[in-house]
Amino acid sequence: MRGIILAGGTGTRLRPLTQVLSKSLLPVFDKPLIYYPLSVLMLSGIKDILVISMPGHLDQYRTLLGDGSQLGINLTYAEQDKARGVADALIQGREFVGDEQVALILGDNIFHGHDLAPLLREQVAKLEGATFFGYPVADPHRYGVAVLDNGRLVDIEEKPEHPKSNLAVTGLYLYDNEALDYAAAVTPSGRGELEISDVNRRFVEDGRARLIDLGRGTMWLDAGTHESLMEASNYVRVVQQRQGTQIACIEEVAYRMGTLDRAGLQAAIERVGAASDYGRYLRQVLGEREFAGSRR
Ligand code: DAU
Repeated sequence: MRGIILAGGTGTRLRPLTQVLSKSLLPVFDKPLIYYPLSVLMLSGIKDILVISMPGHLDQYRTLLGDGSQLGINLTYAEQDKARGVADALIQGREFVGDEQVALILGDNIFHGHDLAPLLREQVAKLEGATFFGYPVADPHRYGVAVLDNGRLVDIEEKPEHPKSNLAVTGLYLYDNEALDYAAAVTPSGRGELEISDVNRRFVEDGRARLIDLGRGTMWLDAGTHESLMEASNYVRVVQQRQGTQIACIEEVAYRMGTLDRAGLQAAIERVGAASDYGRYLRQVLGEREFAGSRR
């Protein structure tokens, strides 16, 4: 399976923060936002990942993340010249995905939870059609919303005025390859974008969509507004300080997923340096003797 991170868009709701910087490079507490969706794809076992962003921003992502070899993964980059909509990621990514399955994640979505990594790996392994992840929210009208009939997913409505459930469809989508054709057939919505919900609805209509309710055991945040960005930073800060573990420390994830060996982790420590909590944390990870399977 191939992975795509959609990290473009104009970030208008976050101006002037996004006047110069791409949204997914903004800090969420102690790391750039893109580390969070990137770590989700890595935890799912995906090693080939395409980062899509605006032409003027791609070099910053390249400088930050390189070709991924420092994490033992492959990162490539593609341009989206303007905000054409989330489904456009599957059009821009067509060549990169080839005839494989694909996981698409939005560059401003943050997931965190105890059982998330095994859940994602299980869903990747048994993917047939499309798998979506639902999350109960207080303000569903801001999202794609799942319409359920006796617990069965029967429709997805994009930002409905009167939501039929409180289950938002989060910005992580697992697809069989036909998603690429479905995306190519989508026409722009009223707000002029290629909506991902139009792709998703095709799978629902075909009876080939599964909705996993992430429920209370997982935290899902999108960092699309100043308030939600601040909330996300606070959440990460509280969990990290309380537990003494890092959320979305990509070198740690690579090490635990086995794409980075001890020498690679050592090199990462030298790159980051010991002046930051992040660097000290990596040192601590390297110093652990027993971790296999015991911690997530
Ligand atoms: O966050 C989950 C929601 O994301 C879903 O529930 C919705 O169904 C889905 O449409 C999407 O809604 P948003 O209104 O939150 O999407 P937004 O336009 O904010 O874009 C999400 C991210 O994708 C954002 O970080 C910028 C990036 N993006 C967006 C568009 C439209 C791009 O890179 N290119 C684009 O053309």
